[in-house]
Amino acid sequence: MNPHILILGAPGAGKGTQSDNIVEEFGVEHVTTGDALRANKGMDISHLGLEYDTPGEYMDRGELVPDEVVDEIVETALDEADGYVLDGYPRNLAQAETLASMTDLDVALYLDVDEDVLVERLTGRRVCEECGATYHVEFSPPEEEGVCDRCGGDLYQREDDTEETARERIRVYEENTAPVVEFYDERGDLVRIDGEGSPDEVWADVKDAIESNA
Ligand code: AP5
Ligand code: MG
Repeated sequence: MNPHILILGAPGAGKGTQSDNIVEEFGVEHVTTGDALRANKGMDISHLGLEYDTPGEYMDRGELVPDEVVDEIVETALDEADGYVLDGYPRNLAQAETLASMTDLDVALYLDVDEDVLVERLTGRRVCEECGATYHVEFSPPEEEGVCDRCGGDLYQREDDTEETARERIRVYEENTAPVVEFYDERGDLVRIDGEGSPDEVWADVKDAIESNA
């Protein structure tokens, strides 16, 4: 059976960057609520009678999309996956309990990065609109500005990567998701990884942690 990997960390910690490496090395599915929601930002959720009528209205404010919307996305994706790296979920304790009822994890990785570094990473991030590859204008620039090295697609900046929304996302993370890290720590499933080295240095530690735990 392929490994069941959870990757935790603040906005900009490098979850997406390292998930790409994990997919390539271990052949698992990348299950990511952020990408799934971005592909469905305008989805009509008005029948749920919540504060806003689409996921995008929560996302562009840096708030969490309600649990009933994300729980369903994750359940469907995990059902279809033979081995996965789960990125962006769970983001609060209720989601962590829901996840425990859906699947068993082999390892929970936590990428530890300081807040000042996070804001710099988020505001400089660029993403390929064709293949989703992630760059940074300073830390991992493409060979040609604005063009994806991998597929030649155009690079864009995420709407929630303005400094103001990035700071709000970090605040929401501290309030809701930091307790999730403790939840896995208390269960003994957590492996802490220093996320402040270069992407390759972080990857070496991530790979080791998976090989010795999964
Ligand atoms: P989501 O897409 O999950 O965003 P996030 O958690 O804020 O995380 P990011 O994708 O911003 O960061 P990352 O850790 O993947 O960093 P990356 O590798 O790109 O969620 C977006 C929104 O969707 C949420 O705000 C919420 O509204 C909603 N949502 C999603 N899931 C939800 C849920 N479960 N419940 C409710 N709502 C939900 O790296 C960042 C940058 O740094 C890049 O430019 C990269 O090149 C660079 N970088 C990476 N590693 C390094 C390194 N080691 N050194 C230098 N630079 C690096
Ligand atoms: Mg990401």
